[in-house]
Amino acid sequence: MSLVSSSAELAARAEAVIPGGVNSGNRRIAWPLGVIAASGASFTDADGQQLLDYHAAFGPLILGHNHPRVNAAVHQVIDRLDIVGIGVTNIEVELAETLVHHIPCAERVLLTNSGSEATYAALRLARAVTRRDTIVKFQGTYHGWHDAVLMNVISPPDRIGKKDPLSLGMLQSTIDETLVLPFNDVDALTEVLQQRGDTIAAILVEIIPHNIGCVLPEPEFLAALRQLTTQYGIVLIFDEVITGFRHALGGYQSLCGVTPDLATFAKAMANGYPIAALAGRAALMERFAPGGGVTFAGTYNAHPVGVTAALATIAELQDGRVHAHCRRLAERAARGIGEIAAELGIPLTVVQFGSVFVPYFIDPAHAPLRNYEALLANDTARDVWFRSQMCAQGIFMLPVAMKRNHVSAAHTDEDIDRTLDAARTVLAGMPARI
Ligand SMILES: Cc1ncc(COP(=O)(O)O)c(C=O)c1O
Repeated sequence: MSLVSSSAELAARAEAVIPGGVNSGNRRIAWPLGVIAASGASFTDADGQQLLDYHAAFGPLILGHNHPRVNAAVHQVIDRLDIVGIGVTNIEVELAETLVHHIPCAERVLLTNSGSEATYAALRLARAVTRRDTIVKFQGTYHGWHDAVLMNVISPPDRIGKKDPLSLGMLQSTIDETLVLPFNDVDALTEVLQQRGDTIAAILVEIIPHNIGCVLPEPEFLAALRQLTTQYGIVLIFDEVITGFRHALGGYQSLCGVTPDLATFAKAMANGYPIAALAGRAALMERFAPGGGVTFAGTYNAHPVGVTAALATIAELQDGRVHAHCRRLAERAARGIGEIAAELGIPLTVVQFGSVFVPYFIDPAHAPLRNYEALLANDTARDVWFRSQMCAQGIFMLPVAMKRNHVSAAHTDEDIDRTLDAARTVLAGMPARI
C-alpha cells in the first residue's frame, strides 16, 4: 500500500489516472477528499481528520462501518469458500429463503451485485411478460445508470415535464420508451394510463424517493399505483434499493401494506458489501429460470462474500433494536436542527423517516413536500453552504443539495449532541445572502 500524505496529494494522483479522480461520478465534491479508514460512525480522511459520517456511502451502512460481526462472518467464509460459479451454494439458498420469509412480494428471489443490475433485470422481465416496451418512472427518482432509467432526477426547473437524460451516449429509442410523471400525482397517473395503459410494461417507483431526500408517498397514491397497474396489466416494481432493510427487513412494502409485483434491493441489505436482489411473484420470476425465455446472468451473482455479509447483516436487524435506535437518533437530529433554525429565524424544513433525515431550506409553511416539483422551493445555495460548513466542523453531510443523512447503529446520543452543537454554530453564522 502506498503512503499518503494528504487528501490534496491523493486527489492529484487520482486525477492523473482515474477520469475526474473518482470511480463513480457523484463521489466528487468541491474539495479534494482522500479516505484512508472507516470505522463505526465515522471515517478518517487522508489529512488525519475524523469525520462523523451521515453520508454512509449513499446508504448501505445501517450498522456502521466495518461492523465486527459482519466482518467476522465474511472472514470465516473466505477461508472455506470462494467463487465456484456452478450449481448453488448452501448460503445463497439460505439467503433466498430468508428474503422470501421477510419480503411480502418475494415468492422467488434472484441475487446480483448492484442496484442497477436489479432494476435492469426487473424491467427486462416486465417487458418480456407483458410484451410491451414503454415504462413509467417519476420525476426525482434514481434507479441506476442504465439507459431506460437514467433521467429526470434532480432536474433544473426548465427540464421538468420534459426528458432530462443524465448522460450522453444513451439510446434515444430507449429514452423515448420511458415516460416521466410527477410523484404523488394520482390525476397525472390516471390520465396517462387512460391514454396508453395498454402499451406500458412497468411502473418503476422509488417508493420513498430518497434520491431527492425524503418525500413520502401518500396513501391514495400507493393505492392508485396498485389498483391501476392491476387494471391495465402493468407490472408494478418498487425500487427498495435504499428503503429495503434500512427501514424494515421486509422493505417499505411491509410498512405501507401495498405489495408490488417485483421489488429491487441492495445497499443496507449487506451493510456495504456488494450484493443486490430482485424479488417478486413466482409467476413472473419463474420466467428467469433457464428455459423460461428471459435471461438473468452474472459471473459474480451470489458471490459468497456478499451473501454472507447479507446474512450477517439481516441477523443484526432481526430483533428491531437497530431500527428503533436509528429512528430515535434521527428524530432527535431532525427535531433539534429544526428547532435551532426556528430560533434563528431561518426557513428550514427537516423531513425524517426512520434512520433518514433531510434538512431542506424551505419555509415550513410549504409542507407537506409532496414531490420534486415542491422541492424546487429549496434554497440550493444555503443547502450546500450549510452542508459544507458542517463538514468543516467534522460532521460529514454530503455537500450536495437535498441529499439525505443516514443514522446507523454505530451513531450515539453524543454524536447527535455534537451534530446539534455544530448545526447551531453553522446556522448562527449563515450569511443573509449566499
Ligand atoms: C433507489 C436506487 N435504485 C437503484 C440504484 C442503483 O444502485 P447501484 O448504485 O448499486 O447500481 C440506486 C443507487 O443509488 C438507488 O438509490
